[in-house]
Amino acid sequence: MKCPVIAPSLLASDFARLGDAVKEIDTNGAEWTHIDVMDGVFVPPITFGAKMLSDIRPLSESVMDVHLMTVNPENHIESFAKAGADYITIHEEASVHLHRVLSAIKDLGKKAGISIVPSTPITAILELLSFVDLVLVMTVNPGYGGQKLIPSCLDKVKDLVKLREEKGYSFLISVDGGINRDTASLARDAGVDVMVSGEAFFKAENKRELLAFLRGGQ
Ligand code: DX5
Ligand code: ZN
Repeated sequence: MKCPVIAPSLLASDFARLGDAVKEIDTNGAEWTHIDVMDGVFVPPITFGAKMLSDIRPLSESVMDVHLMTVNPENHIESFAKAGADYITIHEEASVHLHRVLSAIKDLGKKAGISIVPSTPITAILELLSFVDLVLVMTVNPGYGGQKLIPSCLDKVKDLVKLREEKGYSFLISVDGGINRDTASLARDAGVDVMVSGEAFFKAENKRELLAFLRGGQ
């Protein structure tokens, strides 16, 4: 069995204690920190801007995994790159010029990710798979934490695993939304490399134990 990376999402943390939340992710041994950037247009809520990332960056060794749920992602990639993002993921549904924006992320020296919402098939991103570093498969409709995973989205993960193998691609596959003690094994069985965890992580009393459980260690 593979051992997926867990990426706790700051969306589920107490925003009055963001610095503590970032340190909690690190000290409990999660490798990535997932940062849900929402602009109030692509999705209704508004969350963080690049300044938040530059303020927390020095507090953590973690890989900073920025998930841009914004329209016009090209307007935001430079500021998040400068703020210390490692991965910058944009939505297929948010831009016509995906190839251009993903290339710009790479030109900034960052890993480039593409995300699809539950209603978008993987055929929409076929042309991008040879050069993206990450495919983020949304397993809920974006905008809110604490939703229920839509199991059929995991079929897209299985198809991506097959395609990656057939074509010799190298992207990581991440799932985002509704990952918890009941659903993590379904995601692992589908073949994910990274699992985002919002509520499950921040509500867990024993975060280290939760991480081990999500990874399939117990
Ligand atoms: C939803 C966000 C997710 C969210 C996941 O739009 O992209 O990253 O924080 O939260 P949980 O794990 O609570 O579903
Ligand atoms: Zn996310």
